[in-house]
Amino acid sequence: MTMKPILPFLSVGLLFLGACGLEKPPASLKFPDDKKEAAAPAPDAAPAAAAPAASEAPADPKLAAGKTVYDASCAGCHEASMMGAPKPGDKAAWSARIPQGLEVITKKSLDGFQGKVGMMPAKGGNASLTNEQVSSAVAFMVDKSK
Ligand code: HEC
Repeated sequence: MTMKPILPFLSVGLLFLGACGLEKPPASLKFPDDKKEAAAPAPDAAPAAAAPAASEAPADPKLAAGKTVYDASCAGCHEASMMGAPKPGDKAAWSARIPQGLEVITKKSLDGFQGKVGMMPAKGGNASLTNEQVSSAVAFMVDKSK
């Protein structure tokens, strides 16, 4: 074969142009001086919407406030089921807990407790939370898990 490599390349390009009636060769056949254009950055993809940590905010203001507390102070363990922390929405993990009643569950969350699967620190380890903030977070978690 004595044909220079450029020839089949060109004829493919010409065939292509003839077949499709393109004015410019397709990007893959561009010559070096077209590189700048070819290398132009594609327009940035729209930034992905920030995924909510747990779910959409509930309509009930107490539950919505609870979700904010939960995302900031409780999700670290509970969203990952760390050390057995029950994940909101995991009905199996909550079905034995909910019958205790919201009051008992809330008190245990305020005081902390050693349970069968792990240790829940008082106020989730965030002493700066008010009792109301913790109880809102508990209400949010329980509501999501019923
Ligand atoms: C350091 C990890 C950790 C953090 C942070 C944490 N928890 Fe927990 N939580 C646990 C674990 C572990 C359990 C399960 C304990 C068991 O039953 O053995 C638990 C259990 C619970 C329960 C179930 C109580 C019951 O009676 O069964 C509630 C409600 C709860 N946590 C609320 C919260 C709230 C509200 C926050 C944030 C203010 C929080 N937790 C932060 C580890 C954590």
